[in-house]
Amino acid sequence: MSQPGPTAHADAAPSAPESDAHLLRAHAEQAFAAELAALAAQDDALRPPSWRLSPGAVVTYLLGGTLPDGTVVTPKYVGPRRLVEVAVATLATDRALLLLGVPGTAKTWVSEHLAAAVSGDSTLLVQGTAGTPEEAVRYGWNYARLIAEGPSAAALVPSPVMVAMREGKVARIEELTRIPSDVQDALITVLSEKSLPVPELGTEVQAVRGFTVIATANDRDRGVNELSSALRRRFSTVVLPLPATAEEEVSIVVQRVEQLGASLELPPVPDAVEEIRRVVTVFRELRGGRTEDGRTTLKQPSGTLSTAEAISVVVNGIALATHFGDGVLRAADTAAGVVGAVVRDPVADRVAWSEYLEAVVREREGWAHFYRAGREAAG
Ligand SMILES: Nc1ncnc2c1ncn2[C@@H]1O[C@H](COP(=O)(O)OP(=O)(O)O)[C@@H](O)[C@H]1O
Ligand SMILES: [Mg+2]
Repeated sequence: MSQPGPTAHADAAPSAPESDAHLLRAHAEQAFAAELAALAAQDDALRPPSWRLSPGAVVTYLLGGTLPDGTVVTPKYVGPRRLVEVAVATLATDRALLLLGVPGTAKTWVSEHLAAAVSGDSTLLVQGTAGTPEEAVRYGWNYARLIAEGPSAAALVPSPVMVAMREGKVARIEELTRIPSDVQDALITVLSEKSLPVPELGTEVQAVRGFTVIATANDRDRGVNELSSALRRRFSTVVLPLPATAEEEVSIVVQRVEQLGASLELPPVPDAVEEIRRVVTVFRELRGGRTEDGRTTLKQPSGTLSTAEAISVVVNGIALATHFGDGVLRAADTAAGVVGAVVRDPVADRVAWSEYLEAVVREREGWAHFYRAGREAAG
């Protein structure tokens, strides 16, 4: 499913693992196939049923480390080890895992990597929206076959959840709280009974050991579709925090920008750290409503200004520097992106931005270029 197998059409891309290189975005289990294989080969700890790795090796895959044979496992998630251990331990129980947090705290990212490490498959995904139908959680029908043959196993179109149950894998549900409550209710049966009845065929699908669900939800959506307490009880919740310190956030951005830049074939940019530190500082100060030295109180703009947004501002800046500049990331390359992220509401956010520029940026040593670029970009 994730890779063209030997039966793939003759015109399809070659099925060698190298063929992932042409993909705009490889799944985690493709991008990190070598690391996952090395971890599996050197993992002699106990593996829960159907797991590709032991819980300890899953944690190493997420947080990074060096294996006995010297293989370096890159860190995917930067954050408290305990939190990752709790998440992984939950997956080894019969409870599902709910990753909660503000936007841009790597909920989706962690869920993808956990599924890749545990099941070797991160693609069994349900995207939660207000319009997510019950078929996305249970099953649907191929209507042509249904009409021609009547209900049959061949006419049934399984949901990602049903496939995960059959194969003992992790199903991922994104933005759980946005899903309408009657569709959420369908999940309760799956999670409590570990079975999915198919009354049309007089059968049911019983989950194979190893089946579990990782859901993500946004803190800010709370109240849109409050999770029923019955559903909530089926999940253990792990809250992903914003990076604790500026240094931690800078290192996350540096690392992700390197990976994204490589996959977009952007050349490495020398000395980008200084600009990255500036973007991170601006975002942290504005989202916290005060300068890092604590002396100046700031108006908080309406946008989230998360780590994820800092990453995309920097990647955009690098594309500008590469194609229209001299290949060095400069204040002028990031300023437009920063302003775009900060000024979401044209009135209130613009005021917040210009106050920040005049009161903070203007006075800072070494920030003169950024001050000018920030003024120009705001128009
Ligand atoms: N603590 C972190 N460690 C590693 N990457 C992070 C961290 N926080 C944010 N990111 C990066 O931010 C990006 C977006 O995260 P995402 O999973 O989409 O956020 P969410 O689902 O919480 O809104 C990802 O590329 C991820 O690598
Ligand atoms: Mg997400």
